[in-house]
Amino acid sequence: MLKKLLPSSLFGRALVIIVAPIVLLQLVVIFIFFDRHWDTMSERMARGVVGDITMVIETLGPSPSAKNTARLASVALRNLQLEFKLTADAELPPPVSDWQLGVPRWALSRELEDHLGYPYGLHKGGGQNFVAIQVAVPAGLLTVQVPVSRLTASTSHILLLWMVGSSLVLLTIAIIFLRNQVRPILKLAEAAEAFGKGQVTERFKPTGALEIRQAAAQFLDMRERILRHLQQRTEMLAGVSHDLRTPLTRIKLELEMLGFGEEIADLRSDIVEMENMLDEYLDFARGQDQEEPVTTDLGSLLQEVASDARREGRDVGLNIDGDMVLRLRRDGFKRCLTNLVGNALRFGSRVNISAARRSDSIVIAVDDDGPGIPEADREVVFRPFLRLEQSRNPDTGGVGLGLSIARDAARSHGGDITLSTSPLGGLRALVHLPI
Ligand SMILES: Nc1ncnc2c1ncn2[C@@H]1O[C@H](COP(=O)(O)OP(=O)(O)OP(=O)(O)O)[C@@H](O)[C@H]1O
Ligand SMILES: [Mg+2]
Repeated sequence: MLKKLLPSSLFGRALVIIVAPIVLLQLVVIFIFFDRHWDTMSERMARGVVGDITMVIETLGPSPSAKNTARLASVALRNLQLEFKLTADAELPPPVSDWQLGVPRWALSRELEDHLGYPYGLHKGGGQNFVAIQVAVPAGLLTVQVPVSRLTASTSHILLLWMVGSSLVLLTIAIIFLRNQVRPILKLAEAAEAFGKGQVTERFKPTGALEIRQAAAQFLDMRERILRHLQQRTEMLAGVSHDLRTPLTRIKLELEMLGFGEEIADLRSDIVEMENMLDEYLDFARGQDQEEPVTTDLGSLLQEVASDARREGRDVGLNIDGDMVLRLRRDGFKRCLTNLVGNALRFGSRVNISAARRSDSIVIAVDDDGPGIPEADREVVFRPFLRLEQSRNPDTGGVGLGLSIARDAARSHGGDITLSTSPLGGLRALVHLPI
């Protein structure tokens, strides 16, 4: 439940980790401030004002002269910032609901109730920042204009403003800082993904926090080791294959000297087969020399493969669905497709190629109506030099490298090849290519 609410990205999570305590702290501070400090302050201020008003009322007495009233008014204005007016009629006007008093009403009401002893009314004052307190005293109706500043602690708003403002500033700094921390991780992820798809991007400079720099440097080293290893393996096998041809040629010459016979003919055909295997392998190893990926229209590549087959008079259907432009090692991938279509043509009579674009990949299906491959053998046929039919008869198969080369090409693009049963009755080879 909580997991669903929390953001999934590192950026979001780190932001929550930073922001949540700030917000919590502020809520606690605001709560304590308003619950305790604010109440106490309001109460004390109200008590001060009510005390002053009581003093004014007591000084006025039950029947003050006009001269005394005026004198007291000027003293109160000067020293207490209270401006009052005494009118003869002692009637308190009916209370009006006046919500926007601008000060906490409860504190003032309580103090007036507790300490004044006369009926009173509270209203919005004459000016913007005044509260009017009306008291029905024996001498008449006393209207006191009290400045709002004497009743509320104006600093509390400033405190709130400071808290919200400073946390906004903190948040902005956190966002900027976190973005910079997350960027190197994204860069590393991108590089890893590109490497997985077989695109060797140039070596980037690891940035960011120490641990991320370490991870990036380790990744780059690992990438180099893998590339070196692959290259070494291909070169070594190519070297071995190449060197084997010299003794093979020698054997062939010696066989020529031996004349004719059934056993010798068998030996010869074995030698020819070995030569074919070596040639195929050398061909493949040469193709491995890092071809650079280029932006390719897969649609036209498929068209090429299909028309190559049609030129040999074969029945090849092609349907393409969606935009097919992506970065590919063109020759390597064409070879992958040619091998699959070649197999389909060798084992079936009707062949259909279809390609469709999904949200994050392109899927190419090569279907035929041949005998297919039993489910148990669908993985082993990818092994190099493996043919299901053991005869080594060139009509029923080649040297057995086609599928492993095709899978190698697909995997070097970050994709794969899987085999299943075709709706045409034979084999379906599915090539998945991530975009
Ligand atoms: N479309 C298919 N239908 C039936 N069997 C197949 C099909 N494709 C491949 N196979 C089986 O898988 C084996 C391996 O195929 P692969 O393409 O690797 O080698 P190959 O076609 O025999 O030789 P190469 O492709 O190197 O000339 C084939 O010998 C065949 O037995
Ligand atoms: Mg083949």
